[in-house]
Amino acid sequence: MKKIIGESEPIVQLKDSIERYAKSDVNILVSGPSGTGKELVAWNIHLKSKRKYENFVPINCGSIPAELIESELFGYEKGSFTGANNSKQGLFEIAHNGTIFLDEVAELPLPAQVKLLRVIQEGEIEKIGRRQKLSVNVRIIAGTNKNLTNEVNNGRSREDLYYRLNVVPLDIVPLRQRGDDIILLFDYFIQYFSQDLDIEIPKVEDKAKEILLNYKWPGNVRELRNVVQRLILNCHGTINVKDISNPMILRDHGIVKEETNFNDLYQGQVLQLKEMEKIFRKKYFQYVRSISSSDSSAAEKLGLAPSNYYRMCKELGIK
Ligand SMILES: Nc1ncnc2c1ncn2[C@@H]1O[C@H](COP(=O)(O)OP(=O)(O)O)[C@@H](O)[C@H]1O
Ligand SMILES: [Mg+2]
Repeated sequence: MKKIIGESEPIVQLKDSIERYAKSDVNILVSGPSGTGKELVAWNIHLKSKRKYENFVPINCGSIPAELIESELFGYEKGSFTGANNSKQGLFEIAHNGTIFLDEVAELPLPAQVKLLRVIQEGEIEKIGRRQKLSVNVRIIAGTNKNLTNEVNNGRSREDLYYRLNVVPLDIVPLRQRGDDIILLFDYFIQYFSQDLDIEIPKVEDKAKEILLNYKWPGNVRELRNVVQRLILNCHGTINVKDISNPMILRDHGIVKEETNFNDLYQGQVLQLKEMEKIFRKKYFQYVRSISSSDSSAAEKLGLAPSNYYRMCKELGIK
């Protein structure tokens, strides 16, 4: 699933820019709210570039604990610190001759920003425990859902790095500003997931489409994709207004609905508490993540240590 779906004006322009910028080797900064397709855009740039046969290495800077960032990005040599029993390739080495996608780049701690700047300026990485620098040739695409100018003004991001990353800016608009693309994407995911499950493609009532068009889509395309997955598992041949208004589908309902009528929701089906808790946790984790700028901020909202948050996400199959 690497195709960018959409025919709205902003998406047509975006595709056009991708075509133009892919040919060159400039660094690109992709901005847009979470779930708008930043990683997908980075993939498309890579696939249309002369680096397409080399690696595309996406990494979410917000999901790696600060103390591990440098060893993840630049790697280390065997014996460079206690516990370094083997040497480790950094992601920049893995992306050599290819493309690296640094998502949520504003989450990089300042020391890592300094090192990144040096990689861009000199084309060399400093591997932990290694004397000589290592030359790498990597195209950098950075992603952010924050306004990086603000981050620079607040001292959380380095201005010099910002200018190096932002040679060409690409902005992705939220899904609610893309008009009928909502329906195109909806139909696309319906088809994809029906084929995946080997079921007949359900019909969608016009009234149901209207609700989808009017919904605000705070989680953007990622949310729409999840909604379709849930709908397909729960519908019977057609998707109607009732399916879509189910409070488990769209999330413009209150935080906790006291008056939830379980009988309407589950129609007499009963799951064991453990199974239900798992479903709830997964949805809730995904929801909190979608309204957070990074994994660490989601963990904080949930009152969890980042390492626990990360482990629980893995257990729930989110990572
Ligand atoms: N225009 C689009 N067409 C098809 N799929 C899309 C589109 N935009 C996003 N997606 C899908 O939505 C999900 C979220 O996209 P992603 O690139 O991870 O967003 P971001 O990095 O901005 O959070 C992915 O599964 C992606 O393939
Ligand atoms: Mg992303």
